[in-house]
Amino acid sequence: MNGYNTIDDFKLENKTILLRVDFNLPLNKKTLEIIDTTRIERVLPTIKELINKNSKIVIIAHQGRRGDWDFTDMRKHAEALKKLIGKNVKFIDDIYGIKARTAIKSMKQGDVIMLDNVRKYNNETENKTPEEHAKSELVQNLYPLADYFINDAFAAAHRKQCSLTGFTAVLPSAAGRLMQKELETLSKIVANPEKPSVFLFGGAKFSDLIITIERLLENKTADKIILTGLPANAFLKAEGINLGDKNEEILGKEGTPENYQEIKKLLTKYKDSIYLPLDFAQQTNTSRNEIDISNLPTQYNLFDIGKKTIDSFKNIISDAKTVFLSGPCGVFENPAFMKGTEEIFTHVANLDVFSIVGGGHTVAAVEKLGLENKISHISTGGGALEKFMMGEKLPAVEALKNAKNRNKK
Ligand code: 3PG
Ligand code: MG
Repeated sequence: MNGYNTIDDFKLENKTILLRVDFNLPLNKKTLEIIDTTRIERVLPTIKELINKNSKIVIIAHQGRRGDWDFTDMRKHAEALKKLIGKNVKFIDDIYGIKARTAIKSMKQGDVIMLDNVRKYNNETENKTPEEHAKSELVQNLYPLADYFINDAFAAAHRKQCSLTGFTAVLPSAAGRLMQKELETLSKIVANPEKPSVFLFGGAKFSDLIITIERLLENKTADKIILTGLPANAFLKAEGINLGDKNEEILGKEGTPENYQEIKKLLTKYKDSIYLPLDFAQQTNTSRNEIDISNLPTQYNLFDIGKKTIDSFKNIISDAKTVFLSGPCGVFENPAFMKGTEEIFTHVANLDVFSIVGGGHTVAAVEKLGLENKISHISTGGGALEKFMMGEKLPAVEALKNAKNRNKK
């Protein structure tokens, strides 16, 4: 049916499970404390189900990237999980060495342990096939101690990394409940979105978005694209509008002539499907002040969409049956510039549409506005979600599918 196994396909009672999750969390830069545990909470159905089956659960996860300030061990993650499940979660400061192996061997039924940040293993992020990764020290040391591999790390499924794919070549493997729910919900939308479908992109990055928008329109996954935030500014600039020095500066490294050229091509090809702001809110000395795009350039920062734009975008969204939200409409952390995000997101939440939200900042905005229960699907994915919506295959999911096929033979 799905092409991959789920928890329902195996008898996991009293078995040892290697469970790969995505607990890559936002941390406080000064204290390194965890700011938001959403990604842990979303894996709880899988963990609780496995505890009820008396399985031994060995959690494998990553935090940050090597060399980055948020590249930490997993001790705090284990603590946070312990609080959420009300059961001890032992942190092991080792990944596959003697300490980790001894800890796994001495587990009792229903025990949960968390191994250290798997990206501390040098070969974790190498670009290899599952079969090649299966020969790694990580897989060779851990897989003989386990009966099954379960992947619940949807948000990392766009990576080919060792712990995400290598075990599928040597252990019976399944998708966890979160992975399953994300894939089932999002597949329906990619294959057959209820029409019309409107995709709204905002936030602070735009170079990856050019290809995403092109694919969404080409595949007819999206009927209309609405742009806010920095992507909107970049698209307006590509159309020849002078935003003012401050605003052009913010476009930064992504503002290359090649990118503007690509945007121009996209705008020519899909002129009637891409909607850009009509006005903005700028930060003058007295705070919020609205300006029409015909009055640009400005010496002030454009930090939000203006009222005309909000009304026009709300109108477009009102006709939709599927709405995808990725990225806030402005600098929503600043109360004076939250209006665009607040009005658009609240409008979507109150409509009878299938709404999908993805990406860390977007989910944070939805939670800040208290709308989380009115959104149809809140994805844990950022990059993975984007790739999936574009119609790209996710290597970790492909690995689960191959594992299922292999077992059939
Ligand atoms: C993410 O948060 O994007 C995933 O955990 C993958 O992490 P990465 O982008 O550092 O590979
Ligand atoms: Mg990422």
